Amino acid sequence: MKTFIENLPKAELHLHIEGSFEPALMFEIAKRNNIKIPYNSVEEIEEAYKFDCLQDFLDIYYQGAGVLTTEQDFYDLTYSYLQKCANQNVRHTEIMFDPQTHTERGISFETVINGISKACDDAKEKLNVTSLLIMSYLRHLSEEEAFKTLEQSLPFKHKITAVGLDSSEKGNPPSKFKNVYKASIKEGYIPVAHAGEEGSADYVWEAIDLLGIKRIDHGNNSLQDDKLIAEIIKRDMALTVCPLSNTALQVVDDLKNHPLKKMIDLGLKVTINSDDPAYFGGQVNKNYSDIQKALNLTKKDLYLLAKNSFQYSFLDENSKKNYI
Ligand code: ADE
Ligand code: ZN
Repeated sequence: MKTFIENLPKAELHLHIEGSFEPALMFEIAKRNNIKIPYNSVEEIEEAYKFDCLQDFLDIYYQGAGVLTTEQDFYDLTYSYLQKCANQNVRHTEIMFDPQTHTERGISFETVINGISKACDDAKEKLNVTSLLIMSYLRHLSEEEAFKTLEQSLPFKHKITAVGLDSSEKGNPPSKFKNVYKASIKEGYIPVAHAGEEGSADYVWEAIDLLGIKRIDHGNNSLQDDKLIAEIIKRDMALTVCPLSNTALQVVDDLKNHPLKKMIDLGLKVTINSDDPAYFGGQVNKNYSDIQKALNLTKKDLYLLAKNSFQYSFLDENSKKNYI
């Protein structure tokens, strides 16, 4: 099975570039930028990566992202992730980035987007990995702040395909971002959002009805509501599921109890992703192999999951034909 998974061509549709920041690279970048981080070793960092919930993780994740300063930093972070894609036969990836995590610290939008997109261009040429970008709004901030980010993105619109919504879900429902999503769609961005990770099925309804999303990030709690399941199937929307993230953040207590197989059996379109691999103990292939073992998935299941990853990507239909 391990070799089967390694050889499967895959796309990754749910990945936060700031969540791919491996401790060794974090140390290197902190050192060259003369920034102190509250850890003395990679082991100490790994010890800190034990989370009770999403917020627990986010506090540490934003702290880690705080060492990223120059265009080169964003380039190195992104290229390092794309090399891992190449090594795992991930042929296409849709990368989320959180501009506000950086612009709030005085780093320009331009620095962030240029570093990330140059790495993507180089990876296409040198590693044969294609990518596109999803600009994610931080939901713990106001809609007004999101509007500022939308405005900042416009000179770089040609580099960005979609908008997303991430960070602290509970207490920050999709409805809070209704207007900025409407404006983002008007600018040509495809809407996606995290929904139903910790939040209830109502949040997924809001993301569909009020934000008009085309894909659901996580979506686990959709299973609380039969009508919602039927609606997601009717709209042919995929869920970007992240097994190791779900156990790391205690969304699921054990991979053996993960709802992925149930989702497939219900007819939901599911994909497997790593979310924040540097923090959750595994890249894409480990997500595939751990969930395969836990749920006894067959090769047919795995093939379907990989096929979905291309089918529900935002690649154009012609490019998809190269894979499915
Ligand atoms: N930002 C990075 N990873 C996230 C996750 N799993 N949920 C919400 N926001 C995030
Ligand atoms: Zn996520």
